[in-house]
Amino acid sequence: MSARRPLVIGNWKMNLDFVEGLHLVQQLGVLMKNRPVEHVDVVVAAPFVDLRSVSSIVESERFAIALGAQHVNAHENGPHTGEISTSMLKRLNVEWVIVGHSERRMHYAMSEEIVRETLAAVVRAGQHAVLCVGEELSIRENATYHEHVTAQLTSALHGLEERFHDLVTVAYEPLWAIGTGVNATSDQVREMTTFLRAELHERSFTSAKVIYGGSVNSDNAASLIAESDIDGFLVGGASLKAESFYAILRACDDCYAVKR
Ligand code: 13P
Repeated sequence: MSARRPLVIGNWKMNLDFVEGLHLVQQLGVLMKNRPVEHVDVVVAAPFVDLRSVSSIVESERFAIALGAQHVNAHENGPHTGEISTSMLKRLNVEWVIVGHSERRMHYAMSEEIVRETLAAVVRAGQHAVLCVGEELSIRENATYHEHVTAQLTSALHGLEERFHDLVTVAYEPLWAIGTGVNATSDQVREMTTFLRAELHERSFTSAKVIYGGSVNSDNAASLIAESDIDGFLVGGASLKAESFYAILRACDDCYAVKR
């Protein structure tokens, strides 16, 4: 059995000021130096105001951690009060950007059109876009979730030039599993990853990784990664503590070593 190199992204959401963020990355970096997670790409998606300090410590300590942002504006610059552009992120060595997280879609009016424009802006800037798709509970219950995520995928990827396809990762994040403590089961995740991979292949995104997010923690990470045919995780709550995030990294590293 062969496996793709896992990707684990910690989405801090609106948690940890820059001092707390520094502290967390320092602790995580030490854990990773003591026992490296050699086969996992590790990303932390910190709040905008934390990025500079986190970037500095990652660079000075040479931690094997890449930097991510949780959102970005699709415009290059101009009259967009309160917003941040891809070039600003690039100057801070941000290589990954989460696009269309359900919390932004739901609470900050991020339409399908804005998701598409944002994703295009991110990859054109040479950064990796992590496109979030997923259904809410009512859609899962009436069994139309395949159609729902297909529509999200189709809209977000529409018209994207083929040369940018390698920069797209898809995160399946069912809303009913986010922050609820109820993760999707391995069977549910596997069904959706298989489905999403097929949809991506059809659109010639042949190398796109598919990761899972929704109540991933140090207890369920090992079985999810082993049984679900996923390429990694997008982790919220459990990424806010170095020990729990590191345990998830370890689970992915161990699993990769076995599957390879
Ligand atoms: P939790 O891991 O806290 O459920 O959050 C998942 C998520 O939304 C990551 O983007």
